[in-house]
Amino acid sequence: MGEDPASQVYVRNKERACEECGIYSEKYALPEETTQDELLALIDKLNKQENISGILVQLPVPAHIDEKTVINAIDPKKDVDAFHPVNVGKIMVGNYDFVPCTPAGVMELIKESGIDVTGKECVVVGRSNIVGKPQAMLLLHSNGTVTICHSKTKDLAEKTKAADILVAAVGIPNFIKGDMIKEGAVVIDVGINRLENKKLCGDVEFESAEKVAGAITPVPGGVGPMTVAMLMKNTVRAAVVNGTK
Ligand code: GUN
Repeated sequence: MGEDPASQVYVRNKERACEECGIYSEKYALPEETTQDELLALIDKLNKQENISGILVQLPVPAHIDEKTVINAIDPKKDVDAFHPVNVGKIMVGNYDFVPCTPAGVMELIKESGIDVTGKECVVVGRSNIVGKPQAMLLLHSNGTVTICHSKTKDLAEKTKAADILVAAVGIPNFIKGDMIKEGAVVIDVGINRLENKKLCGDVEFESAEKVAGAITPVPGGVGPMTVAMLMKNTVRAAVVNGTK
């Protein structure tokens, strides 16, 4: 909904990925002034539509729309973002069909890089419902020892410096500097921030961080494409769960 430029880019990337994977998709670019009832009516229609396996409402929604009400309206079996409380609860107990796309992408990067999370000190900076909280849960399921830090955390650098695996998801450009990172640590940057000069940068100051990190993801080109890939995976899973093809 609306004209958020970052959302427009993300949605276009998701559409393109669907095309590449051979997944049928429908996009509804609703004008800013669309009412909540109109949005809920569209979600209801798609919940019932048999050729649709997955539904995603790109966030943020405009201020007059209640995000929670919208997320709650999506059939949990079609909730390929895994934002619905039913799916959040399933992740908590470790029995889930869908994993939130960005944290799932981070786990895939870790796994594919041959890094074993078991027993590692994992520090997640950020506590959002979309990334921080589910990320912590997935690292815990992988037997990491997990600390969640946020804007009120005291002595943040002391916490981040203890991390074997550091996930930055605060949404503040270049927030994590090299001197906040342990030598050899795995540093995963979830931030996508647009600077005044239009350049994209992460939550980690790459130049100083790469000198100390054992492994590090860039922005752009690190976690971002993984998020989209995991959305495709969830959508195929949804087709199986729903018996739709
Ligand atoms: N806005 C930022 N990240 C996401 C995401 O993963 N899903 C949706 N629906 N909106 C977002």
